[in-house]
Amino acid sequence: MKIVLVTGASSGFGEAICQKLVADGFKVIGTARRFDKLKQLQQTLGDAFLPIQLDVTDKSAIDHLNQLIPDNFKPIDVLINNAGLALGLEPAYAADFSDWEMMVNTNVMGLIYLTRQVLPEMVTRNSGYIINIGSIAGTYAYKGGNVYGATKAFVRQFSLNLRTDLAGKAVRVTNLEPGLCGGTEFSNVRFHGDNDKASSVYQDINYITPQDIANTISWLLSMPAHFNVNTMEMMPVAQTPAGLSVAKHV
Ligand SMILES: NC(=O)c1ccc[n+]([C@@H]2O[C@H](COP(=O)([O-])OP(=O)(O)OC[C@H]3O[C@@H](n4cnc5c(N)ncnc54)[C@H](OP(=O)(O)O)[C@@H]3O)[C@@H](O)[C@H]2O)c1
Repeated sequence: MKIVLVTGASSGFGEAICQKLVADGFKVIGTARRFDKLKQLQQTLGDAFLPIQLDVTDKSAIDHLNQLIPDNFKPIDVLINNAGLALGLEPAYAADFSDWEMMVNTNVMGLIYLTRQVLPEMVTRNSGYIINIGSIAGTYAYKGGNVYGATKAFVRQFSLNLRTDLAGKAVRVTNLEPGLCGGTEFSNVRFHGDNDKASSVYQDINYITPQDIANTISWLLSMPAHFNVNTMEMMPVAQTPAGLSVAKHV
């Protein structure tokens, strides 16, 4: 039975991915900072789900992660780097620098450090799959997307560069790039707990759901080992790549 490690499993995409992959027959290790949420998930998913508390910005916690995983949840066949966040939507000249630091430490530093720890064993076994959760924000600029979009552009290029270093190895890498997705805590986190502002983002919009993302990952994992999707961009029908804008009297 294949074993999957999902970061950011306590809500949103990560939670839906764990639910879908356990239903598909995988054994899933779910990590996040909020252990109570992971324990709740374990109650519904049972023994095929192993909850582990992990802050991906904590390098020493990542160093010790392997010791917390019992032998029956090893080796890790699939790493899904999903933990991530956007903080703030202010223009770059007014943004809170500590928000920027948190996004870089989580979306970039956490993702690369965990990948660096897990990848060597996959290479030794000549088998494995890393799925990174990027975003359309890494490709298309939008107002207030400044550092968040830049972290996701990093994730996109890192994914392509990883596959390049893996030339000749049967280890797969995919960067998944979703557009607007509701039913997660993404905007509640972005707006620092202003839940009214967060819910207004999704009002009257037929958005992508976490189940859509989980189903996509389930499909990727169902594909044969010779098949690699490098990048995969998806949006709700309600969203399109917007055109360039021009301001008058600047
Ligand atoms: N929703 C969208 O429209 C959208 C679109 C494109 C891409 N994405 C990306 O999709 C991923 C999941 O987002 P989501 O929409 O599902 O948001 P979410 O509901 O807020 O989930 C984010 C997850 O990341 C975890 N996380 C955050 N910081 C962490 C840290 N330092 N250490 C460990 N875990 C951490 C959170 O768990 P704890 O708080 O318990 O640690 C939570 O489980 C993110 O990378 C996001 O950038 C989202």
